[in-house]
Amino acid sequence: MSNVLTHQGRVAVVTGSGRGIGAAIALEFARRGAKVVAVDLQLPSDTVSAIGAAATGVAADVSDPDGWVAVARAAEAAFGDVDIVVNNAAYYPNHAIDDLDFETWKRTMSVNLDAHFFSAKQFVPAMRRRKWGRFVAISSNSVGLPVKGMSHYIASKMGVIGFMRGLANDVANDGITCNAVLPGLTHTIATEAQGEEQRRAVWQGQAIQRFAEPEDIVGPVLFLTTDDAAFMTGQALVVDGGQYRVG
Ligand SMILES: NC(=O)c1ccc[n+]([C@@H]2O[C@H](COP(=O)([O-])OP(=O)(O)OC[C@H]3O[C@@H](n4cnc5c(N)ncnc54)[C@H](O)[C@@H]3O)[C@@H](O)[C@H]2O)c1
Repeated sequence: MSNVLTHQGRVAVVTGSGRGIGAAIALEFARRGAKVVAVDLQLPSDTVSAIGAAATGVAADVSDPDGWVAVARAAEAAFGDVDIVVNNAAYYPNHAIDDLDFETWKRTMSVNLDAHFFSAKQFVPAMRRRKWGRFVAISSNSVGLPVKGMSHYIASKMGVIGFMRGLANDVANDGITCNAVLPGLTHTIATEAQGEEQRRAVWQGQAIQRFAEPEDIVGPVLFLTTDDAAFMTGQALVVDGGQYRVG
């Protein structure tokens, strides 16, 4: 990882940063000089204490627009205007279509897709005024793979790619970019339930044949939120060791 303070002076919101990929992203933002607003269902105390004074924590449900008002207030009180939003929190129960109920479908869409809309409504106006902003949606490479029992999740993760593409068009003239990152199977609590054999079968299908750690996903997210990526928008960046290839 770079030791350059690429994100000095930036304020970054990272949802679902109490653990896993979100925590790794939050820690690296701080290491690169950003102030971090760490959001999770419960106060992400471990992440905030690991970062120290450059972080503030917010307990909020990202599927609730009031939660986003709380995030904006906490950001403003601690650090000022938000420059970067990484929507990483997700809901991912496994249900084949036969037992997938409407409540689960709605909750999946609400956490994994509505949250991105709420964050844009909350933060685009100030980003426009300041002529700079970055949205990164954490999607999934499962959108291009034969993963069973995840039709609702895959729909939501395709949805955020679509939202980033569309939002990119509306905000492009104000220095705001919107991109999606598609991780492959990554070593977090989310994938703990899968057996060793099942996980091995996945990573053996990658060009880089090992199980990804959360830190493997961080670099591309950090890159997309710098000035170096100012001319990249509406893109879907796959970060999976070369499992799912596009183009
Ligand atoms: N781990 C993988 O293999 C993998 C693969 C592809 C994509 N992803 C995506 O990466 C992201 C992070 O995954 P992870 O494995 O670190 O997950 P995780 O379950 O370890 O962490 C997700 C965090 O989000 C929080 N969260 C959930 N719902 C929330 C809500 N409504 N409001 C606020 N916070 C909420 C959880 O409390 C948790 O701390 C997700 O978007 C996931 O879909 C993960």
